[in-house]
Amino acid sequence: MTKNNMEQDIRNVLITQEEIDSRVKAMGEELYDRFEGKDPLFMGVLNGCFIFMADLVRASQLKSELEFIGVSSYRSGTESSGTMELTHELRGSVAGRDIVLVEDILDSGNTLAFLRDYLTERGAASITIVTLIDKPSRRTKVVKADLIGFVVPDEFVVGYGLDYAQKYRNLPYIGVLKPEVYEKN
Ligand code: IMP
Ligand code: MG
Repeated sequence: MTKNNMEQDIRNVLITQEEIDSRVKAMGEELYDRFEGKDPLFMGVLNGCFIFMADLVRASQLKSELEFIGVSSYRSGTESSGTMELTHELRGSVAGRDIVLVEDILDSGNTLAFLRDYLTERGAASITIVTLIDKPSRRTKVVKADLIGFVVPDEFVVGYGLDYAQKYRNLPYIGVLKPEVYEKN
């Protein structure tokens, strides 16, 4: 018997907890090397970034500030609607700042293209895009991440922050959801 009732909705584990752990540590070290002595502002994209962001900032060991921005294009399906809506505004100014934008997954590119323009308009000095997962096959906007955790095929994944209809974020690994879970909705 498993302790939770989420496992039964997972078709297979794509990236294990151990694989995530070692990759995120390496990404943190990479960011340390890039930003040591600078004063970057880590900006997490809510809600999906919350676990990755927590592990990444600790792995980077940079003396950096944190901010969160909320943006949503998904309703409850698995496709991006393309219309972006800010769900959590920035509190401080980003003018002149080196931003490390932390996202769970880069899919169509709508979210990061929108945020890149949003931060550029507000005077950010530089924007470094860090994504845990890249699904390049689905891109409709021209967006390239500067640092990528894992490249995955075109399958809907959940866990380690990633959700389907706000659930499964607390799975410790990244798994592929059984299609019948979203097809029945
Ligand atoms: P984009 O705007 O299409 O690039 O998608 C970015 C957002 O879509 C991410 O922040 C996720 O919230 C969501 N998303 C895209 N693909 C997946 C997936 O496979 N699983 C869970 N969320 C996803
Ligand atoms: Mg997200």
